[in-house]
Amino acid sequence: MSAPEDISRALAVLRAGGLVAFPTETVYGLGADASSTAAVARVYALKGRPATNPLIVHVSGRDMARALVSNWPEGAERLARAFWPGPLTIVLPRSAQVPDIVTGGGPNVGVRCPDHHLTLTLLEAFGPLVGPSANPSGRVSPTTAAHVRASFSEDDVFVLDGGPCRAGIESTVVSLAESPARVLRPGVISAAEIERVLGREVADFVPGAPAEGGEPLASPGLLAQHYAPVTPAAMMEREGIGRAMRATLDPIVALVLSPIETPPPHAAILLPSTAKAYAARLYAALREADECRASQILIEPPPDRGPIWEAVADRLRRATHG
Ligand code: TXA
Ligand code: MG
Repeated sequence: MSAPEDISRALAVLRAGGLVAFPTETVYGLGADASSTAAVARVYALKGRPATNPLIVHVSGRDMARALVSNWPEGAERLARAFWPGPLTIVLPRSAQVPDIVTGGGPNVGVRCPDHHLTLTLLEAFGPLVGPSANPSGRVSPTTAAHVRASFSEDDVFVLDGGPCRAGIESTVVSLAESPARVLRPGVISAAEIERVLGREVADFVPGAPAEGGEPLASPGLLAQHYAPVTPAAMMEREGIGRAMRATLDPIVALVLSPIETPPPHAAILLPSTAKAYAARLYAALREADECRASQILIEPPPDRGPIWEAVADRLRRATHG
C-alpha cells in the first residue's frame, strides 16, 4: 500500500505531464492531467486506445464536475448526491475546459467521483484526471497494483497502490445528454436505482449493443471484444466443461461456481457464488486463468438474476467474444 510520500510523488509526476495509475473502488485508472492534450495523448498511446473512444474525467466532487460541463442539470445533482463518491459516470455536454482529445472529439464528457481515499486526496490536490482503466486497450482491467505493473513499466507509469479494488467491475455509465437518460455501460449501480433517484424513465443498457461510447463507432465490432484474456475463452455449462475435460489432453482451465472434478492436465478456479463477490474477483480470476497457459478458458455461466449479475454477464460476453 502507498505511503503519504507517494501522493507527493504522484503529484510531481502529474505536474510534469506524466502518468499515474490510481486506485478506485472499481478498477485501477490510468491517470493524467485532464487539461493537458499532451498528457492525455500519452494515455491513448500507452493503452493503444482508439482516438474515437472518449476518456472519463475523475473529480473530487460536484464542484469540480460542474466546471467540466456546459450545464449541470438537476438530474446530475441528484445522481451525484446519491451515488458519489461511487461507481457512477455521468455523461453531459462538455464545457470549453475539456480538451477535444478527452472526448474523442465528441460533444460530451463523462465525469465520475471515485470512492477511494488516496485518489480523492490526489484529485483534491491536483484537479481533474482522465482515467481509463489501466490496462492495454481490449484487455482485462486491473484490480490490484500488481496487475497494473504487469502491463506497464515503472518508467512509464507511477503506481499509487491502494490495495485491491472492492467492486471489481467498471462504473455504470449513464448519459444525461440524451432524452430519456440512457445507461451506456452496465455496472453495480442499476438503471432501476438511477430511475428511482432521477424520478423519470431511464433507458437500460441493451446487451449486444456494439458501441460502448454512445456514438456509432467507425468500426462497431472494435469494442465488442473487450475485457478479454489472451487465452481463447468461451462460456459453457458445467456438464459441457466436464465432457470437454474428459475428451482432450489440451489443458483447459475452467472458471466455476462450485468445485468440479479436473482430470490432469486440466485445472479449475473457483469463483464466489454471490454477485458482488463474483464481480470483485472476476478480473483477477481471468488473469490467473491466463497464467495457466491453457489452450482454452471455459467459464460456467453465472446465474442471471439481478443487475450486478447483468453487469457481470456483459463483461463475460465481451471477454468471450470471437
Ligand atoms: O470504473 C471506471 O469507470 C474506471 C475507473 C478507473 O474509474 N474507468 C473506466 O474507464 O472504466 P474506461 O475508459 O476503461 O471506460 C470508460 C467508458 C468507455 O466505455 C467509454 O466509451 C465511455 O465510458 N465513455 C467515456 N466518455 C464518454 C462520453 N463522453 N460519451 C459516451 N461514453 C463515454
Ligand atoms: Mg477500460
